[in-house]
Amino acid sequence: MQEKKILVTGANGQIGKVLTEELRKVYGIYNVLATDIQRNLDDPCYEFLDVLNQYRMKEIISDYQISEVYHLAALLSASGEYNPVKTWNINLNGWISILELAKELKLEKVFFPSTIAVFGKTTPRDFTPQHVPLQPETIYGVSKATGEMLCHYYHQKYGIDVRSLRYPGIISYQSIPVGGTTDYAVEIFYAAKKNEVYKCFLEKDTRLPMMYINDAIRATIELMQAPSESIKCRMGYNLAAISFTPEEIYEEIRTHYPDFKIIYEPDFRQKIASSWTEVIDDQEARKDWGWQHAFDLKAMVNDMLENIAI
Ligand code: SER
Repeated sequence: MQEKKILVTGANGQIGKVLTEELRKVYGIYNVLATDIQRNLDDPCYEFLDVLNQYRMKEIISDYQISEVYHLAALLSASGEYNPVKTWNINLNGWISILELAKELKLEKVFFPSTIAVFGKTTPRDFTPQHVPLQPETIYGVSKATGEMLCHYYHQKYGIDVRSLRYPGIISYQSIPVGGTTDYAVEIFYAAKKNEVYKCFLEKDTRLPMMYINDAIRATIELMQAPSESIKCRMGYNLAAISFTPEEIYEEIRTHYPDFKIIYEPDFRQKIASSWTEVIDDQEARKDWGWQHAFDLKAMVNDMLENIAI
């Protein structure tokens, strides 16, 4: 059997960075090739790769004898609104190139990160079930909903082992997320640590599904390691951990920093957040491949405050 060789696109991003590290712990540094659009001379297993360059992508997959791809390169919900065509190209054209290469080069498995941004006003907001109307209101959501459909299509048409998760907002200390609507839940920790007033760009009672990075990475690896027959859904699996509002996370941080202050100045991101759902029902992920989250709000805040470096 061929040794597992993994390619990660977008490896410098919020999820990509931590996922690459964890995959390397499991499979070894030289079996996990990190790629992104910055040079990185410090990483011993790294290639510059623009996911829109499909010739180079094919060359890299062939040269390194890649067997699994995690396509994490993406523009997120808020920054995507400034550049819809670029968002579509990176999030979707990069993805279809990978699916085509999966077919041509017979890759073992491919992973597509989807998101709560695939939901829209026609989706039930509370305990959002797995199979619901997807009518997203951002180009990011449109690209991810279409990406999920490609997952399903390439699986049923060509038998590609495609797996996907609908990530909630991800909270992490390893890097600062850029361009997302859920980013406030990371920024707020930096303000608390620096003793600054936090100016929140969402309203205080906007409840959104969220997840700590440790849970998100474990979910990804567990999904990809699950036997193929237990993967019953080839679109993105609903994935849940915690749901909270800005005021609730603020109050939890205040148990550590009693003088911490927040003010609310909602901007265009409020409209995006209001189009998403509040609490996700992820029973299919729990039933099919045994998903269980570990971090609640309290545990996540403790761990963030312990690890965040300013
Ligand atoms: N974190 C993402 C965003 O806010 C949602 O998937 O855009």
